[in-house]
Amino acid sequence: MRIFCPNFPAEIGTGSGRQRAAPLSGWPMNILILGGGGREHSLAWAVKQNPKCDRLIVAPGNAGIADIAWCADLDIEDGTAVVEFAEAHAVDFIIIGPEAPLAAGVSDDLRAAGFLTFGPSKAAAQLEASKAFTKEICDAAGAPTAAWARFDNADAAKAHVEAKGAPIVVKADGLAAGKGVIVAMTEDEATAAIDDMFSGTFGAAGAEVVIEEFMTGEEASYFVLADGETALAIGTAQDHKRIGEGDTGPNTGGMGAYSPAPVLSDDVARRAMTRIVEPTLAEMARRDTPYTGVLYVGLMIENGEPRLVEYNVRFGDPECQVLMMRLGGQALDLMQAAAEGRLSEKEVHWADDHAMTVVLAAEGYPGSYHKGSAIGGLDTVDEDSHHMVFHAGTAEVDGRLVANGGRVLNATARGGTLQEARDAAYAMIDSIDWPEGICRRDIGWRVLDAS
Ligand code: AMP
Ligand code: GLY
Repeated sequence: MRIFCPNFPAEIGTGSGRQRAAPLSGWPMNILILGGGGREHSLAWAVKQNPKCDRLIVAPGNAGIADIAWCADLDIEDGTAVVEFAEAHAVDFIIIGPEAPLAAGVSDDLRAAGFLTFGPSKAAAQLEASKAFTKEICDAAGAPTAAWARFDNADAAKAHVEAKGAPIVVKADGLAAGKGVIVAMTEDEATAAIDDMFSGTFGAAGAEVVIEEFMTGEEASYFVLADGETALAIGTAQDHKRIGEGDTGPNTGGMGAYSPAPVLSDDVARRAMTRIVEPTLAEMARRDTPYTGVLYVGLMIENGEPRLVEYNVRFGDPECQVLMMRLGGQALDLMQAAAEGRLSEKEVHWADDHAMTVVLAAEGYPGSYHKGSAIGGLDTVDEDSHHMVFHAGTAEVDGRLVANGGRVLNATARGGTLQEARDAAYAMIDSIDWPEGICRRDIGWRVLDAS
């Protein structure tokens, strides 16, 4: 299987290998985006709209990204390889999409080599890579979150569960591809989760376990850019993590999202900023590990009071797709300002509108699924600044577009109301000819269908 790259620019590859100083704002830039999912397609789509973007390279990319950028074969978790690539291709600015290269310290390697980079250091990426680290930061910062305790052995963890009772939440400390959190409704479930984690199911990520108080309320995500000192909110969104309609069935990476999220009202957002985000950034700076990049602030909101569920050190997927649809080309200016420490000069220009993305996934996802089924009908979708089918897991094989992952396409639309955005997104879904594809039909239900 080969990733389709029709736009290989002949002039790329003739880079001088020199280390480049950060470009002056406004210069045309060669931009490298690391990642290859729907999040990175939407980032590439937004960046490409900005006239500052000269050449755009995405590694590894996918078949949809290949329509607008050169897709390069590169091990994005290998910092040395990424630095060599950036030098060879005269890259001016690197945007890191997923958490794995951040947790591996790729941004540190790039900065050490003189490259302007969007994404936190390895030390700051601990905010996603370790649940216990985040809880310690919250305690030091006085940020509201669930009560917690950490354990390095099963007996002590089980005794804690017995003392606290259910429901209770058991989490593997490290990165576990979204599978390391068990919301246990009974003590038996919690005990089984503890045994599972300490038996090595999650490898090193489960060597330590965090047990949390179960929080009730409605979840939503708040996205904030940070340059180490200044925080700038760039939008709110709500994901749909379960595979089934009405939020039922197993957890997924996310089956659809919309922005803005009404539950995260201006008041709630202000509280989240002053009580959670700003104290966290201050504590990170105090520890000499200032946070730069995008901070994904996962909140539980009850009676207008936000509490932190989790931080991620990257854009959400598929939340990024709706944020990029609403931000457009200014996303590049904002990410560049965050990387250059100039966020205090910036403000976000928002249209008073709505965006929704609906994920088309391969039948069987999030369990086992087949790759390689043919996808048709995309040529019948009219794509423009308000309508895009972002590719999440696609490849081109023998001239045909095929599914190449669990989450495969993201039909994304913008409208004056959320209902308009939803209608447009599902109209795109209905134009796509892919019998093996499945989607939820109720994205946005908490706003549009709940009575
Ligand atoms: P996390 O990876 O920490 O965000 O957890 C994944 C999901 O588990 C969250 O999106 C919540 O739905 C749920 N969750 C995590 N922690 C808690 C908690 N303390 N109380 C209730 N639900 C939680
Ligand atoms: N959609 C959830 C995440 O990106 O973590």
